[in-house]
Amino acid sequence: MPGYEVIGEEEKNATLKIFEEGGVLFHRSFENKRKHFYVREFNTKCQDYFNSTNCSAVSSGTAAIKCALKAAGVKPGDEVITQAFNFIACVEAVIDVGAKPIICNVDENLHLDMNDLEQKVTKKTKAVLAVHMLGLGGPILELKDYCKKNNLVLLEDACEAIGGKVNGKHYGTIGDIGIFSFDFAKMITCGEGGLTLTDNDVYGTYIKQYIDHGHENNPNLERGHDNRVMPGFNYRMTELQATIASVQLDKLEGLVEENKQRYMILKDSLESLVHVRGEFESHSGSYDTFIFKVKNIDKRERVISKLGELGFGTKILPDAMEWHCSAYWGHALDDIQVHHSKKTLEYLEKSVAIPIFVKNTLNDYRELAQSIFEILKIDE
Ligand SMILES: Cc1ncc(COP(=O)(O)O)c(C=O)c1O
Repeated sequence: MPGYEVIGEEEKNATLKIFEEGGVLFHRSFENKRKHFYVREFNTKCQDYFNSTNCSAVSSGTAAIKCALKAAGVKPGDEVITQAFNFIACVEAVIDVGAKPIICNVDENLHLDMNDLEQKVTKKTKAVLAVHMLGLGGPILELKDYCKKNNLVLLEDACEAIGGKVNGKHYGTIGDIGIFSFDFAKMITCGEGGLTLTDNDVYGTYIKQYIDHGHENNPNLERGHDNRVMPGFNYRMTELQATIASVQLDKLEGLVEENKQRYMILKDSLESLVHVRGEFESHSGSYDTFIFKVKNIDKRERVISKLGELGFGTKILPDAMEWHCSAYWGHALDDIQVHHSKKTLEYLEKSVAIPIFVKNTLNDYRELAQSIFEILKIDE
């Protein structure tokens, strides 16, 4: 589950250090008076950790999507294909750059459906915005091949699966540009924040300038005399956010391991009774959510109510489904997209998502698995 569960003394001490060093909270200025530049250091740390040439910390995951779309050259008149099981931010960012979001469905494992995607590509398609939802990755290797062959830019939103990998490479580093969020519910959190990751220097440089009003950030020039090559915006991260995110990054690997142990308890106990969401073979997720499908609506309700009773609740399915399925987004999408999304809605309506909390012990998860087993075992 989220990094907020393990936030504590280390993050507190790291922030205090900024104040002891003079309290400059901005990523530039007072150059010769400062020992540290935390946003810059965080970018470098992410580059090493995730093995990506250009990382840029930004103010949110939504900002990171927008920066990725801008860097990819998505313009008014273009179409961007994204998936029906998603978070609204992806559609909003596409609309914000003036392009049209086109929705493709997910399959029964709730991963982007490649067959449907291929039906949706037109001459106007500029990019695919694929999303690794709720801790497990989608068909990112297949998408990489497909996008390369069809000259499409692949944007990889790994906001909900930070720490997951495919063939040992971190989610977010397979597509042309990767996107992370560090909001309150994510594997790494600093309250609000995000990151773009890319090995493409042109995209990387564009994003660094775009998030900072077009500043070239030339170290030889005073900020007020800095060069600018294009109009940008302000999507900067503060030093405070960067210092907290940096400490959280140190905890990521441990969190993924802890998640996986709890996830496997649920999987081993329930997979003989229900369809557990499938994972691609070469992938290892961040495992912060356990999802399974219950055919019988009445039983699904009983499972959900048991999760509430035991204090676990559900994660998104069903408690925040309306924000995560484009069948509900008539305020942002045309009728065709909304109607098309109904197939995904059918899958989501049969699914239950259990949050994995590291503060709950392995034994808590064993007991939880037993309670759910008892409900499901009759006639499932
Ligand atoms: C898949 C996905 N993309 C993007 C975002 C947006 O991130 P943020 O909340 O940092 O703007 C989220 C946040 O929930 C998300 O789940």
